[in-house]
Amino acid sequence: MDIPYRAFESKRETYAYLLEQLRIILADTEDRTAGLANASSALFLLLPRLNWAGFYLMKNGDLVLGPFQGKPAVSRIPVGSGVCGTAVLTKATQLVEDVHACENHIACDLNSRSEIVVPLERGGRLFGVLDIDSPVKARFDEEDRTGLEQAAEMISKWLEDK
Ligand code: SME
Repeated sequence: MDIPYRAFESKRETYAYLLEQLRIILADTEDRTAGLANASSALFLLLPRLNWAGFYLMKNGDLVLGPFQGKPAVSRIPVGSGVCGTAVLTKATQLVEDVHACENHIACDLNSRSEIVVPLERGGRLFGVLDIDSPVKARFDEEDRTGLEQAAEMISKWLEDK
């Protein structure tokens, strides 16, 4: 599958293109691992200034590392722990402008400076989280939140019958 890399002037255009590519990727497979692996690749490729993009999935009550792009990361996160576990506990997107100032942050890649974690939820079912890290402080803003929440909604809908 060839996902053409394209850089855009605005975040609005970037997310419109990313969502289009994610739709194509997910329609191509019924397999959870294949779909999420390609989705993490598209996120990492199309969003600038990232050092990690991927998924943690709920397994036996904990978040377990799923498909991702970036450095090796912690393999299991209890609900309530770290930024990811907080997103699950609160069922709300966590936007951390400066991870050094966030007491609850679990460091995986020491280059990470900001992070956004979006719950993957649909119809009351919590599948896991989408986690994205950047080496740039305050890399993520409200436009990123909107774009990534749309991506998470699309992925959660796809996960529903997998
Ligand atoms: N920083 C996350 C841990 C996962 S890594 O960023 C990939 C957290 O605090 O939950």
